[in-house]
Amino acid sequence: MTYDAKNIDAAKAVATDKKHVWHHLTQHKPFEQNDPMVIVKGEGMRVWDAKGNEYLDAVSGAVWTVNVGYGRTEIADAVRDQLVTLNYFAQTAGNVPAALFAEKLIDKMPGMSRVYYSNSGSEANEKAWKIVRQIAEKKYGGKKYKVLYRERDYHGTTITALSATGQYERKNQYGPFTPGFVEVPHCCEYRSQWGDVDDYGIRAANEIEKVILAEGPETVGALCLEPITAGGGVIEPPQGYWDRVQEICKQYDILLHIDEVVCGLGRTGKWFGYQHYGVKPDMVTMAKGVASGYAAISCTVTTEEVFEAFKEDDDARMGYFRDISTFGGCTAGPAAALVNMEIIERENLLENVTHMGEHLMGRLNGLKAKYDVIGDVRGKGLFAGFELVKDRVSKEPVDESLPIAIGADCMKQGVIIGRTNRSFREFNNTICLSPALIATQADIDAIVDAIDSAMSRLCPND
Ligand SMILES: Cc1ncc(COP(=O)(O)O)c(C=O)c1O
Repeated sequence: MTYDAKNIDAAKAVATDKKHVWHHLTQHKPFEQNDPMVIVKGEGMRVWDAKGNEYLDAVSGAVWTVNVGYGRTEIADAVRDQLVTLNYFAQTAGNVPAALFAEKLIDKMPGMSRVYYSNSGSEANEKAWKIVRQIAEKKYGGKKYKVLYRERDYHGTTITALSATGQYERKNQYGPFTPGFVEVPHCCEYRSQWGDVDDYGIRAANEIEKVILAEGPETVGALCLEPITAGGGVIEPPQGYWDRVQEICKQYDILLHIDEVVCGLGRTGKWFGYQHYGVKPDMVTMAKGVASGYAAISCTVTTEEVFEAFKEDDDARMGYFRDISTFGGCTAGPAAALVNMEIIERENLLENVTHMGEHLMGRLNGLKAKYDVIGDVRGKGLFAGFELVKDRVSKEPVDESLPIAIGADCMKQGVIIGRTNRSFREFNNTICLSPALIATQADIDAIVDAIDSAMSRLCPND
């Protein structure tokens, strides 16, 4: 065997990584002097690097993915058994885990009906937008093709997903972008565009209507929103927002597409983030937590009505959804996803998220009481963020060097935390936390204590 995961040469892995691997979102110049971090093992909430350092992971694999924690042998066993039975066949045909997972998933999503498989959040979103464009062709003479997205939301890394991303720095240098994607204003009440108002949620939603009217409702096919903005700074839409958004979508015959790539599968204490707000989506996309990173899988889930729009007699040669994702036919994804979901149910992880989330928010609000540099604490469940500001009156964001330094200090203490990472030049000031759904009170306390300790050194004037 050329590779044995249980018997690795860690030093060699670091040397070969340094020589040949191009890391994501990473400037490699420092690696001319230093070694890159290579993670070699994970167990529960903890990971170890090639140099033997142990870390408590407060961000589920850095990007809110490993929802059920590391080292779940029962997922690995299910994937192995599936791979030796049938590893792959294109989704032009069915396979057993895909069928079983679809049933289990739909059971948690009242009102939804069909699951379309692919591999990444970006791809799942692209499928949703292809559905919008094809419905525009089929029902509206090609006119109703535009997709609205929100300032500060992120929907993926491909050129078209970036075209639908409301984060300037993420998009910078990668244009020109795909036409037909139009931005609507953000809904971050802490950064209110109208000062202190008591109907912020409704006003923010009404801004969407203004964009629809300016574009022409007959040209707008869908509105794509994160239920809680993730990488854009952990922003929960305020009260009134979702009801008004749904009214607007109904009024102008616009499909509501919810991007659950981060919130999906339990992160906020319900199976899906939109389920906190009584939202009835037409399409829901998901990826990261679907199989907690044990296999690559993403899903574009639609209502039966959306699905029905593609059913036609065979003489309509272009009538069906003419899309394929090669690796959407990998069986490892749904096999892992089935066990992932069983674990969430069996271990009552949604309840744990709710309780531990309350503890996390309590502890973060405690930090806010202690450090004036914390302007706003936000989040739901085990999904939290806090903004660092120069002062609480002006709310001027701190330079990104402060959150970077807090992260580096926590890392030295053996805790990995997250931050808004060059999404916007002015708002790279939010520390983000998304521990695995299995987090205990002791884990939460260790995470917040590390941040407290880092801030006591780095924010001495507070
Ligand atoms: C809300 C949201 N949608 C989509 C994506 C893209 O997912 P992927 O990186 O799997 O393509 C991300 C990734 O972070 C995300 O946060």
